Amino acid sequence: MSRLLLTITALGCLISCETRTPKDLSKESIIPRPASITATGSSFRITGSTSIVITEGDSDLEWVGQYLAGLLSESTGFDIDLVDENKGSESIILKIDPEGPIGEEGYELNITEDELTLTATQPAGIFYGIQTVRQLLPAGIESSTPQEGPWEIATGTILDNPRYGYRGAMLDVARHFFSVEDVKRYIDFLAYYKMNVLHLHLSDDQGWRIEIKSWPNLTSHGGSTEVGGGEGGYYTQDNYREIVKYANDRYITIVPEIDMPGHTNAALASYAELNCDNKARELYTGTEVGFSSLCTDKEITYEFIDDVIRELSEMTPGPYFHIGGDESHATKKEDYLYFVERVQSIVNKYGKRMIGWDETGQTQLLPNSVVQFWNSSEYSLQAVAKGAKVIMSPAKKTYMDMKYDSTTSLGYDWAAYIEVDDGYQWDPAEYVDGLTDENILGVEAPLWSETVTNMEEIEYMVFPRLPGYAEIGWTSAVLRDWENYSERLSNHGDRFEAMEIDFYRSELVPWDK
Ligand code: ACM
Repeated sequence: MSRLLLTITALGCLISCETRTPKDLSKESIIPRPASITATGSSFRITGSTSIVITEGDSDLEWVGQYLAGLLSESTGFDIDLVDENKGSESIILKIDPEGPIGEEGYELNITEDELTLTATQPAGIFYGIQTVRQLLPAGIESSTPQEGPWEIATGTILDNPRYGYRGAMLDVARHFFSVEDVKRYIDFLAYYKMNVLHLHLSDDQGWRIEIKSWPNLTSHGGSTEVGGGEGGYYTQDNYREIVKYANDRYITIVPEIDMPGHTNAALASYAELNCDNKARELYTGTEVGFSSLCTDKEITYEFIDDVIRELSEMTPGPYFHIGGDESHATKKEDYLYFVERVQSIVNKYGKRMIGWDETGQTQLLPNSVVQFWNSSEYSLQAVAKGAKVIMSPAKKTYMDMKYDSTTSLGYDWAAYIEVDDGYQWDPAEYVDGLTDENILGVEAPLWSETVTNMEEIEYMVFPRLPGYAEIGWTSAVLRDWENYSERLSNHGDRFEAMEIDFYRSELVPWDK
């Protein structure tokens, strides 16, 4: 063999056969835990020559490709482009295969030394696969400034799809108001863990937070304060549309909630005619519940509700409208039943499915309605008997405003202390006798904001519990156990730091290993 040939081979190797770091895909800390992982022991590397290949002219796929390019470019400092033909090396290939073997939201990730191929039946699956890719890269990938590589990913195959179609979190923007930027950051947290619903609790006794053009005092007066007497605030309709779009771009459905007939003092303070005695109530900045009620036997009440549901539904592409219906202690039982059933027909008239807290299970629910279990097994079982589905949000397990333990300064403890393991170790289909996966739409973790006043405080209550709720919603029960999960969670600590998330360092999680 000529010396020339040897030289050429050696040179070629300098360019393309650099030694690969052995990496074990099955030992990576992915949350939620994927359905199946097959490791092949080597690594793929993102370099300055990596491009993202998209062959079909699908605009949704292009959007997720741009989203990935933006994420990678920011922290690697490489200029990663979208291309429509695979010419280079170290390519990332995004493919839609409508006939693919994985469900609607599933994805398949195939990683070799040379290529990373992400396939899904829908763009949502590609989006979820991208979240997995982020978690396979070093934590520095989450930084907003360029970091040192190398940007290696373990090789092998991941096949993944979710257990439930509804994987949500709630944010109470009524007790304290949070800015559009804060809500977007919250949405990013959900997206990172493959959650797909953000429920916004938009009205309560202490504040009305969404502009309704036909009833302007709701926000000008009803939105002017919050718990503790601060200045409150509200979303204009343009703000709301911006939130909806930001969520939609991340495959997250917004569920708007207007809580009624109780939890309505802000509306009752804004319009005298909504009160049975025609006297406007004072604005309220305390934290009591159960003292307010719309006047259920006045026609103006239903005209008001019709306007609110119409305006809000027009801006909401998702299928749900949440009417609250909890803790209506100031409404007589027969009035409550009449009211919820009438409101249900208004929600349906505007093309939405009604969601109500579990108390609404007492009413004549239609089979397309949904109850959100938070407290009452009895009411939830009544709902299921009428054909309604259930979202599982047991207060004792999923309320993120509950303290971690007696030393947590924020939050409440009326339902329970919820340490990180308590929040994780329960199963939606075993929590209430008689409620099975057949009845369960999914899981949602609410954050009520009586004690939570800003983004840092939101982060402290939400992290690190949120990834656990995401895993409960995504991963099948047989793949979940606390030992395995807490190890993976510990490796998300430096991701939280890279994202500048202010989180609770639970002693139950081995962060420092
Ligand atoms: C609730 O916690 N009142 C739904």
